[in-house]
Amino acid sequence: MKARKLAIVGATGAVGQEMLKVLEKRDFPYDELVLLASARSAGKKITFRGKEYTVQELTENAFEGIDLALFSAGGSITKKFAPAAVKAGTIVVDNSSAYRMDPEVPLIVPEINPEDAKKHKGILANPNCSTIIMLMAVYPIYKLYGVRRLVVSTYQAASGAGAAAMQELEDQAKAMLAGDQPPTEAFPFPLAFNVFSHNSSLYPENGYNQEEVKMVKESHKILGSSNLKISPTCIRVGTFRAHAESIHLELEKEGDLDEIRKALSSFPGVQLKDDTEKNHFPMPLEVSGQDDVYVGRLRWDLDDSEHKNLQLFCVGDQLLKGAALNAVQIAEIL
Ligand code: A2P
Repeated sequence: MKARKLAIVGATGAVGQEMLKVLEKRDFPYDELVLLASARSAGKKITFRGKEYTVQELTENAFEGIDLALFSAGGSITKKFAPAAVKAGTIVVDNSSAYRMDPEVPLIVPEINPEDAKKHKGILANPNCSTIIMLMAVYPIYKLYGVRRLVVSTYQAASGAGAAAMQELEDQAKAMLAGDQPPTEAFPFPLAFNVFSHNSSLYPENGYNQEEVKMVKESHKILGSSNLKISPTCIRVGTFRAHAESIHLELEKEGDLDEIRKALSSFPGVQLKDDTEKNHFPMPLEVSGQDDVYVGRLRWDLDDSEHKNLQLFCVGDQLLKGAALNAVQIAEIL
């Protein structure tokens, strides 16, 4: 879609800033750009493609004349302002969880279900970052053989909780190395040199946290089927911006590793990084700043002579494919 007037809502945030970089890198077509954030940032200057922009306060009247708005300011801001945007005739691509499970709102990974985007009624949702990264790695295999059951453990970076959380991780690391008390506000526990269960709230009735439930429900919506059984465990680790995931797949048919490698290598947005000779597999430091999801450590269960139980490891940049890049790709396919 070519936007005459494009708005970024949450332009000062971690994802908003990445959205600007992605728009520039992909030469996304638009005539005018409007940067919106909270009253705290109003008046702040942002230079983009050699032009200085003044950040404006997000209000309900901010959408007049805007064709397309990429939202990344959190679920409550989307709930509050997206209806006003749609009323003004703006198409909204939203990075928050606010509308993801709304049956009227398509939930899109452009490499997987681009055709669903056509059904939008003004709002399209960008899936949860862990869900996107997992499905990018799994979908080429799912298409080949079908998958009965998927067990996933995530190793999630600070960036999923925003710019303040990334800064906090850096400050904590410095404080802890200096023997000082680490500042801890963005997360309930220090993330530097630490690993803890994902900080989203728990559902007392089943013991799963919100992030885990998102991975299950959103995957089913994107795949258009709830036949795949998914068992997730979401964990925060002290990395900055790339999520890693260890995934076990129970295939419906016998698989072949060469065929799987070929399918992964040829899938757009996926890179195979499976160097068993050098023991070199995908890792957050190497994948940070990369558009593609990296997949490796492909192997069968030790006792699996039927080749139906596959183990793999994948890493994707949470701010790019997990958020900003996927949102811009959705705008591109409209
Ligand atoms: P601001 O920088 O003015 O607070 P992150 O996920 O990195 O924390 O970024 C959140 C983004 O959402 C920021 O751009 C932030 O703007 C924006 N935001 C937060 N609260 C509001 C609000 N009440 N109105 C508009 N934008 C908001």
